[in-house]
Amino acid sequence: MDKSNSKPKDKIRIQFVCLGNICRSPLAEGVFRKKVEEAGLADIFEIRSSGTSDWHVGEGADTRMAETAERHGVSLKNHAARQFRKEDLEQFDHILVMDKDNLNDVLYLDTEDRYGSKVRLFREFDPSPDCFQVPDPYYGGPDGFENVYLIVERTAENLLQVLIRTYNLEVEQNS
Ligand code: 4NP
Repeated sequence: MDKSNSKPKDKIRIQFVCLGNICRSPLAEGVFRKKVEEAGLADIFEIRSSGTSDWHVGEGADTRMAETAERHGVSLKNHAARQFRKEDLEQFDHILVMDKDNLNDVLYLDTEDRYGSKVRLFREFDPSPDCFQVPDPYYGGPDGFENVYLIVERTAENLLQVLIRTYNLEVEQNS
């Protein structure tokens, strides 16, 4: 985790990115936000998600993903898909992408090669990775959505722990 932009001058800005912004990255945003709230750190973080494509802009989360999230106590009800913008490279501190295509597409927008250290594969933070990409569940069956949830849950937890250490954040005792 790059510390060059550490020390919460204002907020720590985190953005999760996938292709459509209706399945994987909204889930990562929702799960991470819930963990941040439970740790009493909601004021410290700005949390967003986006897609590299414009295919679903303005749409809610995929109902299969939203139902899976709901079963695990995470609401994606207020989600509206947005597209990743070049300006996000400057405005966010940490950009966590779901797969290698997302990594390519985000870095392609970094035309002056300035922001590469902010952009990482989300699963670099997976404590038990079997690979480094979050599989795209869109064209598959229900098991794919549950599998994505399990990956996102443990990876988001470890990501938060890494950020707490990196930024020396104080966590509420009862969280
Ligand atoms: P996501 O999943 O990138 O996790 O939101 C997808 C959503 C839509 C499509 C592909 C993947 N699509 O082909 O429309």
